[in-house]
Amino acid sequence: MDHFLYRQGALYAEDVPVAEIAAEVGTPFYCYSTATLTRHFRLFDEALSGMPHMICYAMKAASNQAILRVLADLGAGMDVVSGGEYARARAAGVPGEKIVFSGVGKTREEMRAALEGGIRQFNVESEPEMVALSEVAVALGLTAPITVRVNPDVDAKTHAKIATGKSENKFGIPIARAREVYAQAARLPGIRVVGIDVHIGSQLTELAPFRLAYAKVAELTEALRADGHKITRLDLGGGLGIPYTRSNEAPPLPMEYGAMIREELGHLGCEIEIEPGRLVAGNAGILVSRVIYLKSGEGREFLILDGAMNDLIRPAMYDAYHDIVPVIEPVAGSEQRAFDIVGPVCESGDTFAKGRMMPPLAEGDLVAFRSAGAYGAVMASEYNTRPLVPEVLVHEHQFAVIRPRPTFDEMINRDTIPEWL
Ligand code: LLP
Repeated sequence: MDHFLYRQGALYAEDVPVAEIAAEVGTPFYCYSTATLTRHFRLFDEALSGMPHMICYAMKAASNQAILRVLADLGAGMDVVSGGEYARARAAGVPGEKIVFSGVGKTREEMRAALEGGIRQFNVESEPEMVALSEVAVALGLTAPITVRVNPDVDAKTHAKIATGKSENKFGIPIARAREVYAQAARLPGIRVVGIDVHIGSQLTELAPFRLAYAKVAELTEALRADGHKITRLDLGGGLGIPYTRSNEAPPLPMEYGAMIREELGHLGCEIEIEPGRLVAGNAGILVSRVIYLKSGEGREFLILDGAMNDLIRPAMYDAYHDIVPVIEPVAGSEQRAFDIVGPVCESGDTFAKGRMMPPLAEGDLVAFRSAGAYGAVMASEYNTRPLVPEVLVHEHQFAVIRPRPTFDEMINRDTIPEWL
């Protein structure tokens, strides 16, 4: 459920007409709903109730500080994957003790910044990384709390580009080698083991792969404890999928996910950490765009929008489906026509949908891409020297621009021409 609904024939974001925001901000822009972000965070919180837990929002999904602040105020921690994300989380007011640091390629500079600024744990992904982290920590006179990310070799049954838990993926260390790596961790002076980490992929639409992975983590917990390691936290990653089409998709609910976690891991007495991104932010955001032209091609009709692949890359990159709805509600029973929905960028990959059935639309009409809150604005670029798409946050009847559209001058003046030219 989200808070982008038609009222009296027009699309609203909570209590604000989307067209009103478009008139003030211009198009394209992302629009997020505070109520939806809040609702989704609470669903996870309730799903894990009764178990000690921390929800570390995977801020790679949508990292505007205003969004982080909404979630942090609800008690969220953050999962960061770069020095930039760490700095952003801190700037949004998240204490270091609520930040976990994931990722296969943390640099020594990033480790140092996080150790100095405060960190809940590093999710370590390789032996060389662990050695480097130990050295950095020792040099600072600190010890780094860690989990080791294990790769359980399960098939997440999701798009190949976002599956991470198979042995062929670059992530984690093979679970079969875990005891060896933990033994090494115990010998390193700058390292303190606190738990185990696993993340098998994103947009998972079944519970079974999670269950397989978590069962392996339960077994490993017992084995590591027998080896004398203190395993007090289990970081279970993110990955729970969302419905992108509103018809036939029914991914598991956070409540079902939580119940499964309790079944597989509840008996271990560990603090459970999860790192959801998409399910928190995905349906909490839309991308609003305007029709520039309707163009007739050879046997097809194009709807040319002012939003493009640089603003929302998921269709071009993952063949992702996003519902595209008119901001003025179509009258019931209005005839539908098939359109190829495209942006103005100069490549054929700039196609959001092919042969999509749409109600009547005309030049100047507004449309909204649904489920665009996660991996939307954060993956945007200035390709074709198109200004980075702005972001707006709605809260009941108010809205605020939380990242303005840069001017052409702001974009262009970042370049410098060397004096020898
Ligand atoms: N934790 C780790 C270690 C991750 O790598 C990810 C996502 C998450 C948590 C959050 O997963 P989520 O709950 O959002 O599924 N750009 C792609 C998705 C990439 C996901 C990368 N890792 C897309 O647009 O579908």
